[in-house]
Amino acid sequence: MANMMEEIKKRRTFAIISHPDAGKTTLTEKFLLYGGVINQAGSVKGKATARHAVSDWMDIEKERGISVTSSVLQFEYGGRCINILDTPGHQDFSEDTYRTLMAADSAVMVIDASKGVEAQTRKLFKVCAMRHIPVFTFINKMDREALDSFELLDQIEKELGIPTCPVNWPIGSGKRFCGVYDREHREIELFSGTMKGTRMGEVEKIAIDDPGLGSHVDEDQFEQLEEEIELLDGASAEFDQDLVDRGQLSPVFFGSALMNFGVDTFLNHFLMMTSTPLPRNSDMGVVDPMKEKDFSAFVFKIQANMNKAHRDRIAFMRICTGEFDAGMDAWHIQGGKKVRLSQPQQMMASDRRMIDKAYAGDIIGIFDPGIFSIGDTLSTSEEKFSYEGIPTFAPEHFARVRQVNTMKRKQFLKGVNQIAQEGAIQIFQEFNTGMEEIIVGVVGVLQFDVLKYRLENEYNVEIILESLPYEHIRWIENEDIDLDKISGTSDMKKIKDLKGRPLLLFINSWSVGMTLDRNEGLILSEFGRS
Ligand code: G4P
Repeated sequence: MANMMEEIKKRRTFAIISHPDAGKTTLTEKFLLYGGVINQAGSVKGKATARHAVSDWMDIEKERGISVTSSVLQFEYGGRCINILDTPGHQDFSEDTYRTLMAADSAVMVIDASKGVEAQTRKLFKVCAMRHIPVFTFINKMDREALDSFELLDQIEKELGIPTCPVNWPIGSGKRFCGVYDREHREIELFSGTMKGTRMGEVEKIAIDDPGLGSHVDEDQFEQLEEEIELLDGASAEFDQDLVDRGQLSPVFFGSALMNFGVDTFLNHFLMMTSTPLPRNSDMGVVDPMKEKDFSAFVFKIQANMNKAHRDRIAFMRICTGEFDAGMDAWHIQGGKKVRLSQPQQMMASDRRMIDKAYAGDIIGIFDPGIFSIGDTLSTSEEKFSYEGIPTFAPEHFARVRQVNTMKRKQFLKGVNQIAQEGAIQIFQEFNTGMEEIIVGVVGVLQFDVLKYRLENEYNVEIILESLPYEHIRWIENEDIDLDKISGTSDMKKIKDLKGRPLLLFINSWSVGMTLDRNEGLILSEFGRS
């Protein structure tokens, strides 16, 4: 027990969120370099090779050279056991990307200093904000021309609605980037263009009042820094761990992942400020990993078809309390049965490996004979409780879908329903029109291809997808609403999900506001309750 608690306290489980190209992969690679997992820069970044090896599972991935699946990287650093959850970002952005955030205890937000807050960051941040988890900001690419640093903070505060607290502050950017000023120690970490690729950037530090500073920082830059420090000390929020813990204040760091500058400073501060495995809500109240000794976990992702011949699935779960032993039995709450948790595996940078022990905070993938659904709880506790469900996240692309051969209706429905149950797509129907047609909603358009491919390959059903112009979906929170009475906009469409719950689709975002204005008391949500 004592040993188990020690192991749990060592865990730091976080996701890195960013817009594509902000530098998530490069930063992750530097973390792995520090953790000694890889010993050469570039091992993760060779997307065509390394990424491929991580998830060589679906033919579609091979064809396109991208990963549809996401993985977890685990390594030890500074006496801690770190789990980085990969949130797929390019074309492979999907609902799984959001779900992965449900398994994290904090998030690192990487922002490209020349671009500021971008669309995908905004979307992922919303999920972090909904969970109130701590968010740490790394403003990357300072070795390139950057936006004004105050402007960047302003964007984060205004667009994301979270106050910021800069831990360090950059001096110049691009060709004139000199380094960062450490506000706590009142010293400057000097940047040199030769740091790229070194394991630990050997950073030279110099006190702000050191007379030798002049040989590193030009006079005009120094004057500007002095002014900015004064402004910061007067105007920016003070560091407050309590606010950080509640996701109400984001510590901000500046650096360059590519040049390996500011990464160790970030990692060391981050590991001190981020939390150990967090308690989780359940139908029996809050379950705290520091107090409960029984094993418990919830499923946040299902990976289908890893072995085409067997239609195997892997259920990824986040361990919330206790200790996991390979092959152990646990109670599957939603299934109402005891199940054996077999073939447990974890993902490493370049391969999957079998494991025999894991602890609260860790993510494991378990062989799933087709019994698990997203959000399910597993536990060895005498008390049968279930963790709070995982919300349904708003799809942004919609299509009407039908089978080419009408004789194959049954297989078509079976396939569509099964794929929806795994969480790859969401399915809806027209509301009260009596039409049987199915509307599919996805977070990333690649999921349409996945659907088409899987229906053809696994269910032998060819389909036609007719894309619909809607981009915004809202769940109706009011219990007793008469949908016929809602007066919407001309671009609004009423639909229902498989449980018969009503939803609204809109083409334009402003129509959402307009519909709210026109219907007093109407409550719309971007997240669906599971
Ligand atoms: P992502 O995972 O967030 O999509 O971004 P990724 O790390 O792949 O980085 C995107 C591009 O930005 C890469 O260049 C990468 O080298 C570059 N980059 C990342 N961090 C920094 C930084 O701190 N400074 C500068 N100057 N560039 C940075 P690329 O040309 O697309 O790829 P590659 O040819 O370098 O592999």
